[in-house]
Parts: sequence; C-alpha cells; structure tokens
Amino acid sequence: MSEILQFLQQRNSAPKLTEPGPSTEELEQIFRAALRVPDHAWIRPWRFITITGERRQDFGELLEQCLVQRSPDADDAARTKARNSSLRAPLMVAVVVNISEHPKVPPLEQRLSAGCAAHAILLATEASGFAGIWRTGAASLDRAVMTGLGLAPSEEIIGFLYLGTRAGAAKFIPAQDTADFVSTW
Ligand SMILES: Cc1cc2nc3c(=O)[nH]c(=O)nc-3n(C[C@H](O)[C@H](O)[C@H](O)COP(=O)(O)O)c2cc1C
Repeated sequence: MSEILQFLQQRNSAPKLTEPGPSTEELEQIFRAALRVPDHAWIRPWRFITITGERRQDFGELLEQCLVQRSPDADDAARTKARNSSLRAPLMVAVVVNISEHPKVPPLEQRLSAGCAAHAILLATEASGFAGIWRTGAASLDRAVMTGLGLAPSEEIIGFLYLGTRAGAAKFIPAQDTADFVSTW
C-alpha cells in the first residue's frame, strides 16, 4: 500500500493541541492544498481567515460578547469557555464560503466544496507534521460572529479549524468495516 493511502486511512483529529503551529511558510503550502479541492465551475466559493497570536484573545472576546447577545443568561462558566475557546490551539482557521447565485452550482455544492477545503487543510496540516480538529457549534452559525470576523452577508462559516501540535497520544480509532458502508448496485 502506498504511504499516501496509508496516511489517508489513518487520519485522526486532535482535540488537544499545543505549540508550535505551522509556520507562515508551512501554512502557505497547507493552503495550496485547499485551493485544489473539487469546485464546480471553478467559482472558488471559499476563503480562509487565520487567527493567531494575540488575535486569539480578541476573537475569544468576540465569542464571549456574541454568546451573551445570544444567551443573556449565560453563566460565568459558559462565558469563560467561550472566551478561552480560541486559546485551545496556536492557530485557528475560519473556513468561509461565499454563497453566490449560479445557474449550475446550487448553494449546497458551494458549501460542499468549502467542506472539502476544510478537510484538505486538515489533511495537509497532518501531512506537514502537525494536527488539527474541525469544530463548529452555535458560534459558527451566529451572524454577529460572522460580522465580527469581517464576513459579508453572503458569506457563512463552514467551520473553525484548530491547528497545532498534538498534545498527548493520538485518539484510538475504532475499526470500521467497509462492508457496512459500501454496496454494489
Ligand atoms: C462539520 C463538522 C463540525 C464539527 N464540529 C465539532 C464540534 O463543534 N466539536 C467537536 O468536538 N467536534 C466537532 N466535529 C468532529 C471532529 O472534527 C472530529 O471529526 C471528531 O472528534 C472525530 O474525530 P476523528 O476525525 O479523528 O474521527 C465536527 C466535524 C465536522 C465534520
């Protein structure tokens, strides 16, 4: 079996991440992989926003403010969790899709392409010796969070990718049988 195939079969998210994250040069190569995802009619519906260094604190404050707007009765624990969530990795990447009208490419296909881009970033990150995890949650659906990140009304968040170095051992991957998912018609 090829090393690439073996790598694909063992991809694994990392819920706990620590320093270092990918360097600027490494990130450039990672994003190049995202630019090669399937994209009907080449409309390039995606873009990527990095949040790193001290900007993670600023983003945490935005998440807390938006949480309080969404849920005015949010308790201290929930507020602290929101404020600190962006500190869980050295680097966050917000994967954004810009939904546009297209005669052949419905919004679902644009979102799917952006999802492929998110996965490509995770794969390329892992191939570069780092690790990551894709998270969403209520904040990713909150228009106030999107506006705070600078998104236009036509844009949406597909996911927040947390990237860095895996902290601790890799998670156990339960064995799956392809026969449970694959059939012949
Ligand atoms: C669209 C999407 C959203 C997700 N959102 C979250 C999330 O908010 N929190 C979380 O812990 N995992 C979330 N996950 C799951 C993790 O990214 C990861 O896939 C899961 O922990 C299983 O680990 P594995 O990828 O190594 O199998 C999400 C996955 C996808 C595809």
